[in-house]
Amino acid sequence: MSSFINAVKGLPVLAGCVMAAASYPAKPADLTTPVQQRLAINGANAISVGWNTYEQLSNPCVQYGTSSDSLTLQACSTNSITYPTSRTWSNAVTLTGLAPATTYYYKIVSTNSSIEHFFSPRTAGDKTPFTMSAVIDLGVYGADGYTISMDATKRDTIPTIQPALNHTTIGRLATNIDDYELVVHPGDFAYADDWFEKPKNLLDGLNAYEAILEQFYDQLAPIAGRKAYMASPGNHEADCEELDYTTGLCPTGQKNFTDFMNRFGNTMPTAFGSTSSNSTAKVLANKAQQLAKPPFWYSFEYGMVHVTMFDTETDFANAPDGPDGSAGLNGGPFGTANQQLEFLEADLASVDRSVTPWLVVGGHRPWYSTGGSGNICSPCQKAFEPLLYKYGVDLAIFGHVHNSQRFVPTNNSVADPAEMNNPKAPMYIVAGGAGNIEGLSSVGSNVSFNAFAYASDFSYATVSFKDANNMQVDFIRSSTGEVLDSSVLYKAHSQSFVVQ
Ligand SMILES: *[C@@H]1O[C@H](CO)[C@@H](O)[C@H](O)[C@H]1NC(C)=O
Ligand SMILES: *[C@@H]1O[C@H](CO)[C@@H](O)[C@H](O)[C@H]1NC(C)=O
Ligand SMILES: *[C@@H]1O[C@H](CO)[C@@H](O)[C@H](O)[C@H]1NC(C)=O
Ligand SMILES: *[C@@H]1O[C@H](CO)[C@@H](O)[C@H](O)[C@H]1NC(C)=O
Ligand SMILES: *[C@@H]1O[C@H](CO)[C@@H](O)[C@H](O)[C@H]1NC(C)=O
Ligand SMILES: *[C@@H]1O[C@H](CO)[C@@H](O)[C@H](O)[C@H]1NC(C)=O
Repeated sequence: MSSFINAVKGLPVLAGCVMAAASYPAKPADLTTPVQQRLAINGANAISVGWNTYEQLSNPCVQYGTSSDSLTLQACSTNSITYPTSRTWSNAVTLTGLAPATTYYYKIVSTNSSIEHFFSPRTAGDKTPFTMSAVIDLGVYGADGYTISMDATKRDTIPTIQPALNHTTIGRLATNIDDYELVVHPGDFAYADDWFEKPKNLLDGLNAYEAILEQFYDQLAPIAGRKAYMASPGNHEADCEELDYTTGLCPTGQKNFTDFMNRFGNTMPTAFGSTSSNSTAKVLANKAQQLAKPPFWYSFEYGMVHVTMFDTETDFANAPDGPDGSAGLNGGPFGTANQQLEFLEADLASVDRSVTPWLVVGGHRPWYSTGGSGNICSPCQKAFEPLLYKYGVDLAIFGHVHNSQRFVPTNNSVADPAEMNNPKAPMYIVAGGAGNIEGLSSVGSNVSFNAFAYASDFSYATVSFKDANNMQVDFIRSSTGEVLDSSVLYKAHSQSFVVQ
């Protein structure tokens, strides 16, 4: 791949003076038609609805109600934003005051839209079992992407698969839509920055980048428009190319997580007010709310779980995508010095386990992985691991490495002797095998605290909160639905506030 990269380095400067080759989706005649729909949990009783349109909306609105023939409520905003090089505007409206755990019907207001539905968030402390899907490194399919491993003989057949896509992970999320209530996706969405992988795009990187984003979020809309889809950043959101562009060769609009911020900045939450009766916890939760920086770092609560999403790309010492980071992607910072880590500490410390017994975090780059040191983020481990251990995080979800992996509970690369029976250390998984143009990563060399690794086909994870003490993690083979690995973590959760 490196000779290819060398060959295309510098080509974006030619964009604009050659014929367009990008495979943009057809623009609807009605420019108010909603596309790229996406939902998120935006507060204890709130769902945000994000979507794009091919013209700016002066007043984006969503009608909703608990019956499809009676959408009596309406919420509006003035959030309709774009950036240079984008053909679309990102719109966002938040629906507040929702009854918990209830099916709502909604219609994005347009002369060309349909009625859809979602399930509103469970109240923090609701002990009803539920499942959350974890999908990371999920790329585009179709003319500008492919998801059938790195087998070059299969590669040529892909562009003919339109528009059913046969994206096995998106397909499985659709088939299993009733089996989970929300999705977490810590980073690496469209892989728009891999546009140069298709030779037809070589002379039109600027448009190819945008076309891939449009294709991907169109493909994801049937899932993300139905289920809360919680996003945080990965390296593929940073810049127009996975190359060292610190010299500024990316066009304005395709640097510094711009699309990611436009798309999710007004839909991801901050942190919730605490429902704990402990006043210290309330103060800490308020502090976390102030320090949160959605869509980069934030938290939310849902039934038995408190989920904290953090940014492994920027905003900590030696962050790989930071201005002087090892990836050379020149992103961020998005907060003041230490803001992310102060957020994380206040947020984790505020979690009352008598309300939300489970504490789960999601980030993009792992520090535990098979396949050698090239797969791990040591600065991430240094910044985050001590906090995860201190506040008794139960499960940490990562991606970045394109396969599925599970580790026994571990701290400082040492397996917790209690293993899955009430450990103090967090359990770690990598769920990066969802499928993207770069294909799967081989399992590679093992580490002693690994319990499962799989790279033969596309896969993702589900996390089922059975009760206050038992959480089951399954890895699902996307093409067949087969459960590849299943494990149950037992935690006593006997202390309301864990500090260790
Ligand atoms: C209306 O929306 C559908 C997709 O939701 C699209 O296929 C169709 O082209 C749109 N019609 C117009 C007139 O824009
Ligand atoms: C896509 O998947 C469907 C259902 O699994 C299958 O019938 C069809 O042949 C596939 N299309 C292509 C082009 O592979
Ligand atoms: C209240 O919460 C704080 C942390 O937020 C904790 O340290 C303290 O022990 C709690 N107090 C009680 C009585 O649980
Ligand atoms: C990236 O964007 C943030 C927030 O908009 C800004 O503070 C930061 O300086 C930008 N970084 C670069 C390298 O332009
Ligand atoms: C947990 O790991 C951190 C390194 O990330 C280390 O500093 C700390 O001592 C470890 N704690 C325990 C109890 O082993
Ligand atoms: C890695 O080694 C551990 C410990 O020996 C073992 O349980 C695990 O199955 C191995 N993982 C792989 C992918 O071979």
